Amino acid sequence: MTDHARQTGTLWGLSLGPGDPGLITRAAWAALQRQDAVWVYPVRSGKTPSYALDIAQRAELAPPEIHLPLLFPMTHDGEKLARAWLKAAQTVLPWLQAGRDVLFLVEGDASTYATFGHLARTVRSLDEHVPVQVVAGVNSFTAACAEVGEPFAEQDDTVAIIPAAYGVSAIDRLLGDFDTLVLMKIKPLIEDLLDWLQARELLAGAHFIERVGALDERRLSGHELLALRGSKVSYLSLLIVKNPHRVRGERIKGCLKKSGPGLAEPAALKQISTRTEPAEAAAA
Ligand SMILES: C[S@@+](CC[C@H](N)C(=O)[O-])C[C@H]1O[C@@H](n2cnc3c(N)ncnc32)[C@H](O)[C@@H]1O
Repeated sequence: MTDHARQTGTLWGLSLGPGDPGLITRAAWAALQRQDAVWVYPVRSGKTPSYALDIAQRAELAPPEIHLPLLFPMTHDGEKLARAWLKAAQTVLPWLQAGRDVLFLVEGDASTYATFGHLARTVRSLDEHVPVQVVAGVNSFTAACAEVGEPFAEQDDTVAIIPAAYGVSAIDRLLGDFDTLVLMKIKPLIEDLLDWLQARELLAGAHFIERVGALDERRLSGHELLALRGSKVSYLSLLIVKNPHRVRGERIKGCLKKSGPGLAEPAALKQISTRTEPAEAAAA
């Protein structure tokens, strides 16, 4: 390690889970006890509170002496976003260069559609010596599955995690291939998604979960989702769709089919099949 790297503080992406303080990991909890580190947390505007900070506060964790919000606006305007990321990076860089660790509080998991990636990249573009570390956490969709009592995936199920911004037709194209669809960032498309769920007869296996783990969590399943028509939903909401129309292909040894006598198994398939013996699949 160079002298420079030794003196520089670490930028931490600290996952806090999706809302229930009970889902903060022990690693994140330990980091949050530190009074020598700086806390920063994302806000979408000067008027909106930080959901990540709220999780820490509901866990009755006291912020350290230095703690402040960083603005990450909700926009697709690339220039505005780049300006916000630069400003955020310039805010935290002096602490890092002075040897202080900076904890960026993230709702859910810091590697899952999180603003942390933008901050880390921008900081590193200003000073490549800044060490970056992530504490992994529980993400919103696995917590949502637990709340609604649906498995995220079983045995050899396929799962697609899709930001709904690609539009309903893009999502529709995945129906043949996936057993579970997780639709994120659904707020602007909720009416179109309800139409689609009805038209494709998917409502029975659909769940809407808003602010999972927060005090005002909301859950609707099956035909209850139609109550969302004409109403506003939170940005922090998602859909879990269990898809009865998935077309299953023939499965390779380890699940069902063994290669017959005289049929040489290609090396690549052999590798896959030794990794998924039935006993392992059952235990997973
Ligand atoms: C920028 S992504 C953040 C994802 C988050 N880092 C995670 O690990 O789940 C924001 C989207 O994640 C989903 N989301 C995040 N937190 C949520 C929560 N507490 N309840 C429901 N959906 C949530 C929503 O679809 C929201 O539009």
